[in-house]
Amino acid sequence: METDSLVLSATERAMLAGEEGPGVQKAMEIVVALGRIYGARQLVRVGSVQVAGVSYKNLGEAGLDFLQEWADQGARACVPTTLNPAGMDLSRWEALGFDPAFADRQNAVIRAFSQMGVRTTCTCTPYLIGNRPGLGEHVAWAESSAVSYANSVLGARTNREGGPSALAAAITGRTAAYGLHLDQQRQATLQVEVRCSVRETSDLGALGYLVGKAAQNRVPFFRGLEVTSEEQLKALGAALAASGAVALYHVDGVTPEAVARADVLAPESELMVVDSLVPGYSALSNAGASRESPEARPREGSGAPIDLVWVGCPHASLDEIERVVTLLRGRKSRSTLWITAAREVRQAAVELGLVAALEASGAQVVADTCVVVAPMRELGFRSMATPSGKGAYYGPSHAGLAVRYGTLAACIEAAVEGRWTPLN
Ligand code: F3S
Repeated sequence: METDSLVLSATERAMLAGEEGPGVQKAMEIVVALGRIYGARQLVRVGSVQVAGVSYKNLGEAGLDFLQEWADQGARACVPTTLNPAGMDLSRWEALGFDPAFADRQNAVIRAFSQMGVRTTCTCTPYLIGNRPGLGEHVAWAESSAVSYANSVLGARTNREGGPSALAAAITGRTAAYGLHLDQQRQATLQVEVRCSVRETSDLGALGYLVGKAAQNRVPFFRGLEVTSEEQLKALGAALAASGAVALYHVDGVTPEAVARADVLAPESELMVVDSLVPGYSALSNAGASRESPEARPREGSGAPIDLVWVGCPHASLDEIERVVTLLRGRKSRSTLWITAAREVRQAAVELGLVAALEASGAQVVADTCVVVAPMRELGFRSMATPSGKGAYYGPSHAGLAVRYGTLAACIEAAVEGRWTPLN
């Protein structure tokens, strides 16, 4: 609903009037338009921005032209701004088989962002490489799993920004104060009782899938959930945001607002009970069957060939990379095995000898990109196993892949065998 209640400061009015140039003016027009649509009363300063909409596969020439024009109008980020994954590994694209024509256009996109002062980090886990906002800090992040992590695990405040709106926040240093920037909107309205065992990271993905579907854009509050690592929270939030539009969740006794806020759960919240993860595993393994062409359906039963095993959605931490090395035990991978990670995390893995160990097994730590935003069909892949709920959810629709979903251990066995051999 549009209202006229938005009050701008003198600086903000000057930006809107074009006094800081057409690039800033365009950015302020976007921020103000969103504020008016959502009934915001003011703008808030943001501590950081995460920009999405980077892959040339999704942007195309029209998207690149839009970015380049904005950059040429003098638009520059005025707060620390990081960037989501691109459509390829920026330095190793040739060895990984990417088309030089695609690489040329992708590099043009990266140059446009760079011209605007955006750090070309190309990762969906900026919080693993230093962009880690604090409790209560207003930020403007795009990319649903990063948004979920910022809100839920770090207790920062952001709506689910789109590519242009995040960039507009970077250029103005502001976003409109509505939605999850406000205390009241951060209360949980769906209680989730978890009454089954949740141990593996893929269990969190299956749980997130089930709850996300039911919650849609509500805020869930989990009880009975034992979480042992931030990687598990990363997996949970990514799946919640994929099957639903969940941008914030709380876990009793774990996440910061669940610990700090007595009124974190809204009165008369609906109750959801989860007593089995089997429907989640099953739906994610068959996600292609319900939403995609017959070509993207997994073949029934075990033993189906697997072209690609993908770990690192959201991008892998150092611990997750190390765990793959441990599970491989020096064995060769028959399937292509990709672990996607931030470039800086990959570099740390190089220094620890983890990348060398993985490459000796035929695996690759791929930086800057992921299976969902890279042109995977053009690279020849048709079937995939993954322990990521979000990766399994989008694999069929965004990459045209038939998907098997399982634990990390099951996926690594599939890589070694070249076939799906579920362990659970
Ligand atoms: Fe990140 Fe790509 Fe997954 S952007 S969350 S690795 S779909």
